[in-house]
Amino acid sequence: MSESLMIELKPMTAQAYEHFTALSRVDFAAAKSRAERLSISEGQKIATDAWINLLPQGQETPLHHFYTAWKDGQDIGMVWFKEERDWETPYGYLYQVWVWDQYQRQGLAKALMAGLEEKLKQLGLPRLRLHVFAFNERAIGLYEKLGFETTNIMMVKELI
Ligand SMILES: CC(C)(COP(=O)(O)OP(=O)(O)OC[C@H]1O[C@@H](n2cnc3c(N)ncnc32)[C@H](O)[C@@H]1OP(=O)(O)O)[C@@H](O)C(=O)NCCC(=O)NCCS
Repeated sequence: MSESLMIELKPMTAQAYEHFTALSRVDFAAAKSRAERLSISEGQKIATDAWINLLPQGQETPLHHFYTAWKDGQDIGMVWFKEERDWETPYGYLYQVWVWDQYQRQGLAKALMAGLEEKLKQLGLPRLRLHVFAFNERAIGLYEKLGFETTNIMMVKELI
């Protein structure tokens, strides 16, 4: 990776976490509704329940990690993952990676993911898993470029 694309991952401040978690929950609700043909309110309920179950102690929930990505002193995005250790091959589970709109298409997500992979290796996690909605072609393109393989495909058909 070229020097100019070096990014640094620093633990999220409490303020950044509050901003991110609100944004991410709204985004997840909208994406869930769109991908699974649910109403907006159904998507919102699923998102609210998911956050309560996943993050009962918010940013301090054990095994969850939240980082802000910095490049040249600018906050360019974020990443959220969880350590999953109760497996023969433990892994990191990526819940969210985000490059803010004005910084997209500059190779920064690739650099951010490289930083994430380094962190996971330092934590002794040899594998990275993630879920991506089928409509999210940008993210799928990113993950494919980085060498991820598809493990599940879910389908739906309207009958009436
Ligand atoms: C997905 C996302 C992280 C990509 O960030 P980015 O910094 O623009 O990505 P990069 O510039 O590093 O590009 C990496 C690859 O992603 C894919 N990609 C990124 N933007 C794309 C776009 N607008 N259209 C198609 N493919 C795109 C391409 O394969 C690209 O490789 P290339 O530049 O060699 O063609 C960014 O669009 C984002 O934050 N989206 C909103 C949040 C989100 O959906 N996160 C994923 C949750 S699973």
